[in-house]
Amino acid sequence: MRISVIGCGYLGAVHAAAMASLGHDVVGIDVDEDRVRALAEGVSPIFEPGLPEALREGIAAGRLRFSSEMSDAAAADVHFVAVGTPQLAHGAGADVSYVDAAFAALREHLRPGALVVGKSTVPVGTAARLAEGLAGAGARLIWNPEFLREGRAIRDTVAPDRLVYGVSPAGDDGVATLDEVYAPLVARGTPRLVTDYATAELVKTAANAFLATKISFINAMADVAEATGADVTTLADAIGHDARIGRKFLNAGVGFGGGCLPKDIRAFVARAEELGLGDSLAFLKEVDRINLRRRERLVDLVVDSFEGEPAGRRVAVLGLAFKPESDDIRDSPALDVAVRLRGLGAKVRCYDPEAMPNARRMHPQLKYAATAEHALRDAEAVVLVTEWREFREMDPAGAFGIVSRPVMIDGRNALDAEAWRAAGWAYAGMGRP
Ligand code: UDX
Repeated sequence: MRISVIGCGYLGAVHAAAMASLGHDVVGIDVDEDRVRALAEGVSPIFEPGLPEALREGIAAGRLRFSSEMSDAAAADVHFVAVGTPQLAHGAGADVSYVDAAFAALREHLRPGALVVGKSTVPVGTAARLAEGLAGAGARLIWNPEFLREGRAIRDTVAPDRLVYGVSPAGDDGVATLDEVYAPLVARGTPRLVTDYATAELVKTAANAFLATKISFINAMADVAEATGADVTTLADAIGHDARIGRKFLNAGVGFGGGCLPKDIRAFVARAEELGLGDSLAFLKEVDRINLRRRERLVDLVVDSFEGEPAGRRVAVLGLAFKPESDDIRDSPALDVAVRLRGLGAKVRCYDPEAMPNARRMHPQLKYAATAEHALRDAEAVVLVTEWREFREMDPAGAFGIVSRPVMIDGRNALDAEAWRAAGWAYAGMGRP
């Protein structure tokens, strides 16, 4: 099938490459010419395992190209809109101006009967409004939210847990076409739910709200564990055995960040307030607050290790990305902790296997080490904030010989506390005795 993908950021670049890997003829459109040039050469603008290979394969096979001209989308039968919906600069709501602009530009180039598929995460009610705008152009709209996780984005796109198609009240127009796009996924029996627009939009926001709530729940338990001498990790293991609860997303620590969960819960609250349902979603504000307090708590643990006097002390910060297998620093708890510690006068040296170029652009004032070992050299405290495998597998005895004061503060509860203590370290986790 001939497909266009409008917006080649995280979601769009991955979607374009994944659709080409399914055998479709794909053009990715983005207004950023540098990004288009890089993508056309098979260079991924983000660190995402498997993406460079998928881009190069698609380009080499002649099935994938990129352009900054919307007119190059005109020949496609199916158009995926995958532009970003960041948090408003002055407010908690989502900025849907990129979605509006993409639809307005695309409208000029649609062939009669074309199918437009919305993938961006939008406030509930947006799809119905956009569908009205398309009606005059003779095009159809399906809202098809994306649930990809960074670091597993290609896999999540070609082998998702479920497909959700939000269709117009007029009927399931376009469902057969979208089934054809996703033919291998549909043939494999991937659960596919055909809903109205509002439900499809809400599936995405509700899923992210639930995940964020689960993380803040266990982080609240971490506070209680800390005050009572309990161990939140064992607590999570034990309640996680209950199949109704499940162990996933119950890792306590410095909390969630990234380009999705934080902004999506804020946008959801803002939308609920517009709908007069502020009370129903007020708990999500608390979820956000619990999450942000984790960063303060971790900084406090470091400050406490210096008896309240962190100024001039050497601190190694391991990790800057919001999670491992990603170079994304959007709303990253790790970067926030590094910046706060520096703000308190500590001599911070950071290291991250992938996120340092992004971090350096945003925070040139921070000191960056070439390796983890460099970051650790002569450190008086080490803070683990992103649980990269390289850090999880660090040898406590070897690290002991590099630092000048063996204090390990594990903001992700990712290390074996006993092994680190046995090697002579003062170890502190979050919510662990
Ligand atoms: C998330 C959703 O998982 C995905 O379905 C949606 O499409 C986009 O948002 P992502 O932002 O890639 O994906 O990251 P995710 O793996 O969900 O992690 C989010 C944050 O939560 C990270 O900062 C991570 O470190 C943190 N986290 C996750 C915890 O603190 N504890 C956990 O137990 C799990």
